[in-house]
Amino acid sequence: MQCRIGQVVGLGTGTTIEAFLVAVAERIEKEGLEIRGVPTSKATAERAEELGIPLSSLDQDPVLDLAVDGADEVDGAFRLIKGGGGALLREKIVANSAQKVVIVIGEGKRVETLGSTFMLPVEVIPFGNQVTEIQIADLGCQPFLRTLENGDTFVTDNGNYIFDCQFEGGIEDPDDTHSKLSQLPGVAENGIFIDLCDVVVEGLDGGETFVEEK
Ligand code: A5P
Repeated sequence: MQCRIGQVVGLGTGTTIEAFLVAVAERIEKEGLEIRGVPTSKATAERAEELGIPLSSLDQDPVLDLAVDGADEVDGAFRLIKGGGGALLREKIVANSAQKVVIVIGEGKRVETLGSTFMLPVEVIPFGNQVTEIQIADLGCQPFLRTLENGDTFVTDNGNYIFDCQFEGGIEDPDDTHSKLSQLPGVAENGIFIDLCDVVVEGLDGGETFVEEK
């Protein structure tokens, strides 16, 4: 991954991005690479600080040179499902502010139909969330409120809840589902990312890397 001096880089969230953060930190230490990172979650902000990666914010740097993030599914049209880690809202805001978005995935995340291997995360405002749940279900899926291991409701960095939505056989028309979800007042954001991915870097099990540009 080519990070250049002075770049402002969106830092994604998740296990795949952990390796990227470590690699960036190494280059900062060994090569004196000068970049600023805009984190997509509190967890990534904490980790980046631990690793000594200088941080910025969208208020300071509204246009990012690059954003690097993971994904839960990628289809043939470079559409994504994201939000397995619960950071989809900030991830979408950051990706939308970046001139180039690079998505790093492991094998097994490419799909023919989005939603066929992973439930679609939808972040909702707590107020009236049961009504929002019914409206989401009317789009042809079964929503499950995300909970922690102890049974408590999972709360995002933005103070919202997440419904993980099961679409039987996958999401038939992701553009339409994205647009319908965006029209529901209780939905803060949904995990379908359209036109927010320029490059997919896929780490294959054999150790090779496969890079595909849109
Ligand atoms: C975080 O909310 C997600 O969008 C992650 O980017 C996605 O779930 C990929 O995570 P892993 O790299 O942990 O699989």
